[in-house]
Amino acid sequence: MNKIRHLIDISDLTTEEIDGIIAVAEDIMRHRADYAHACDGKKIATLFFEPSTRTRLSFEAAMIELGGNTLGFASASNSSTTKGESVMDTIRTVSAYADIIAMRHPLEGAALAASRRSVVPVINAGDGGHCHPTQTLADLLTIKNRHGRLHGLTVGICGDLKYGRTVHSLINALTRYPGNRLIMISPPELGIPNYVRYEIMEPRGAVWSTCSTIEDCIADLDVLYMTRIQKERFADLDEYERLKDCYVLNAEKMKAARSDMSVLHPLPRVKEISVDVDDDPRACYFKQVEYGKFMRMALILRLLDDAAKGYCPETTRREILSEGFVCRNPKCVTAVETDLPQQFSLRDKAHNVYRCEYCETRFGHQK
Ligand code: CP
Repeated sequence: MNKIRHLIDISDLTTEEIDGIIAVAEDIMRHRADYAHACDGKKIATLFFEPSTRTRLSFEAAMIELGGNTLGFASASNSSTTKGESVMDTIRTVSAYADIIAMRHPLEGAALAASRRSVVPVINAGDGGHCHPTQTLADLLTIKNRHGRLHGLTVGICGDLKYGRTVHSLINALTRYPGNRLIMISPPELGIPNYVRYEIMEPRGAVWSTCSTIEDCIADLDVLYMTRIQKERFADLDEYERLKDCYVLNAEKMKAARSDMSVLHPLPRVKEISVDVDDDPRACYFKQVEYGKFMRMALILRLLDDAAKGYCPETTRREILSEGFVCRNPKCVTAVETDLPQQFSLRDKAHNVYRCEYCETRFGHQK
């Protein structure tokens, strides 16, 4: 295994490191010219096997603003994936051309798999419905700038909490800061995955509750984090049609919110935030887009600096306690890239619960 530090999951950063990246992003915002040559001669490869507007372009803008260059592809159809090349071979190839890679892929665990073949840092720009750590960095900077803190906040998270990868990473970050209270607003079918509940929220003693409507809790919130129902993740499109418009935030509902509440959304939106909210001073979702670029600039600087120093903290290397199982999640990278070794860890000895190390799906003790 190589000794390069990657960002696959927000857990790869300590809370102190997240705070440090926020501080650098704030400094970049204040002193843009000071960073204009920080990455002279460096290249970022953006490998997007799944569509994106914000994440890909903000990574590219970030590297350009740091003085570096970009290469990559915006669609799997423009890569040798169409000829049957594996993610592992793609990443091994591209890591010969670039100093750092940002990769988005529809399969859960694809970024982790890629990182194991890369000789340069890999950043997970979204792996299926699993996680999206750099969106969380953008979210945190938005919240910090709006509220002056990341602790002691009541945050409503609304919409598709099952497939919404930004939600999984955001919960992982917010539950580290003291005094935060989370209110989950979703239909029962789209609640948070088990691994988020049992491996992140419960061990940390997270304070959380559920609520079935926006109207029932909006007056209590510091932050309302809206999400899109993720059509592309549904196996059953009839279920998507039934659920797609279950939550819509509009100007009428905003009347009950506090004057200092903020509305975030990772975007793209469909109908879950009505355009009549856009001019409300509490709407922060386009500011969030701007902050995403500055956080990605700070992250690129951090990972390139760590790579230059050969710094790779122990926490980023996942411990494999048990092998010999087969992941039954059809969206796991191991379901498609069958040359990958299946890797599980024992999570709950009393109940024989194992977890796939790629997609984090938890299974009972069976093949
Ligand atoms: N928030 C986000 O990931 O947007 P894109 O899909 O446009 O990158």
